[in-house]
Amino acid sequence: MSDRPEMYEGVDTVWLDGEFVDFEDAQIHVLSHALHYGTGVFEGVRCYDTADGPAIFRWQEHLDRFYESAKPYDLEIPFEPAELTEATVELIRREELDSCYIRPIAFYGYGPLGLNPANAPTQVAIAVWPWGAYLGEEALEEGVDVAVSSWRKYASSQIPTNAKTTGPYVNSVLASLEATGNGYVEAIVLNKEGNVAEGPGENLFLVRDGELYTPGLAESILDGITRRSVIRLARDLGYTVHDGATISRGELYTADELFFTGTAAEVTPIRSVDDNEIGAGTKGPVTDEIQTRFFDLLEDPTDYEEWFHPV
Ligand SMILES: Cc1ncc(COP(=O)(O)O)c(C=O)c1O
Repeated sequence: MSDRPEMYEGVDTVWLDGEFVDFEDAQIHVLSHALHYGTGVFEGVRCYDTADGPAIFRWQEHLDRFYESAKPYDLEIPFEPAELTEATVELIRREELDSCYIRPIAFYGYGPLGLNPANAPTQVAIAVWPWGAYLGEEALEEGVDVAVSSWRKYASSQIPTNAKTTGPYVNSVLASLEATGNGYVEAIVLNKEGNVAEGPGENLFLVRDGELYTPGLAESILDGITRRSVIRLARDLGYTVHDGATISRGELYTADELFFTGTAAEVTPIRSVDDNEIGAGTKGPVTDEIQTRFFDLLEDPTDYEEWFHPV
C-alpha cells in the first residue's frame, strides 16, 4: 500500500460494517458496485473542541440527511441511527480527538456488476481524522478568490441534488480542478438555468443592502446543514434572510458581500469573483458578524445546545 496521506497520520481505527478495524484493513473489493457507478451516499460532519469538550455539530441533521440520501437509490442502511451514533462517538474517543472531521459512507458493495444494484450488499463505513480550516485559516479572515465555473451544476431533474451521493461529485471535482488550475481557490457553479447554485462543496450567501440571499432548494443545490444553521443564526441576529432566492450571475459582481458555508468551509468570505473585487475586497461586516456568531457557539452554545452532540 502506498504511503499514508499526511491527513490520516495517527489514525488507528475505522468502523466498517459493524466492526472496528485497523486503519490499513479498512478495504473493499475492486468489483464494488459503488466504485464503478458511484452508488454511495456520504456525509461530512465536524466534531468541535467546545468549552464543554468534544461535540459533534448538528449530528442528528447529518444522520437524517444520510438516510434520506440513500432513499432514491433504494440503498437500505443495515444499521440503526443509534448504532451509527454509538460507533462514531466510540471512534472519536478511541482516537482521542478533541476536534475532527467525520466521514460516514454507505454504498453498494461487491456483487453483480449490472447497473441495477438490487443484488449488491450495502456496506457502511465511518472514518474520523483531524482536519483544520478547509480553505485555510487565512481564507476565513481574508476571504477567497473564486471563479464562476464553465461546468454547470447538474439539475435536480437529472440527479437528486438534495441527496449527497458519491458519483455526482465528479461535477464538483471538475469545477474544482478548473478553478484551481486557473489560479483561484474555489469555484461557483451555475445551475442548468444559468443562475447561481453553489460552490463545489459549499452553499453560497449574498448580502445586499443589509439583507441576506441564498439560492433556494429548487436551484439544484445541496440542502446544506451549515446553510440552515446560518439562516437561523442570521435571523436570530435580526437579519432578513431570503432563503428561496434566485440569484443571477451578474448579481454576484455587484453584491456588497458574498460568503460560502459548509461543514468543511464553515463560514468563508469571498473577496473576488472572476477578478472582480466584492465590496471592499475583504471580509465584509455582515459576514464577520455571522462568522463570529458561528464560532462563538463553540464557547457558549446558549439557545443552540441541541446543535451539539457531546462525545
Ligand atoms: C455540493 C455541496 N453543497 C453544499 C455543501 C454544504 O453542506 P453542509 O453545510 O451540510 O456541509 C456541501 C458539503 O457537504 C456540498 O458538497
